[in-house]
Amino acid sequence: MISAAEILDEIAAEVRECQLCPLGRGRRNAVPGEGSPTAPIMFIGEGPGEQEDLQGRPFVGPAGRYLDSLLKRAGLTREQVYITNIVKCRPPGNREPTPDEAAACRPYLDGQIAALKPRVICLLGRPATQTLLGTNEAMQKIHGRAFERDGIKFVPMYHPAAALHNQKIGPLLVADFERLRPLFADAVKAAQGLGDG
Ligand code: SF4
Ligand code: URA
Repeated sequence: MISAAEILDEIAAEVRECQLCPLGRGRRNAVPGEGSPTAPIMFIGEGPGEQEDLQGRPFVGPAGRYLDSLLKRAGLTREQVYITNIVKCRPPGNREPTPDEAAACRPYLDGQIAALKPRVICLLGRPATQTLLGTNEAMQKIHGRAFERDGIKFVPMYHPAAALHNQKIGPLLVADFERLRPLFADAVKAAQGLGDG
């Protein structure tokens, strides 16, 4: 049987060649995503920023360093999770992806979710939350809460970059990550119980 790692590699190879939406023309490097192919927890952001576009890796700029510190607080390492975005190529000037761009890129994300079969998916910011949950609820109302769909717990969160611009967001993000520690630990334990952790 073809492994999750092989499927993820295949998706990454397709993404690197992709010109399905206009973002493909402006990129230096596509950013397919990275992490453990057996990760029970997935993080989905908005789209690559400048550093991500330069390096071809997700969350490696200032927002990424902040995400690393949040993961640490939640008892997680990058190696235990899988990190990607709703669009795999950088939107010009870091603008939000358009709904058409997110829709064009969606099959790659769906393929990654299907390969990983994560127990928990953290949605970083409003665009990821809207794309995956189809909700327009304010982040203020829904952050840190788990919404179960198809056996997966989706957790909307503030985007780590928001904390770098707004001093009020950091403590809310930190509190959510600390409160979610048991949920994350259960997901890791359950995956190990299946012998694929
Ligand atoms: Fe293809 Fe997604 Fe890049 Fe658009 S953002 S070119 S759909 S990989
Ligand atoms: N912001 C995102 O949404 N994704 C990244 O990969 C980096 C910054």
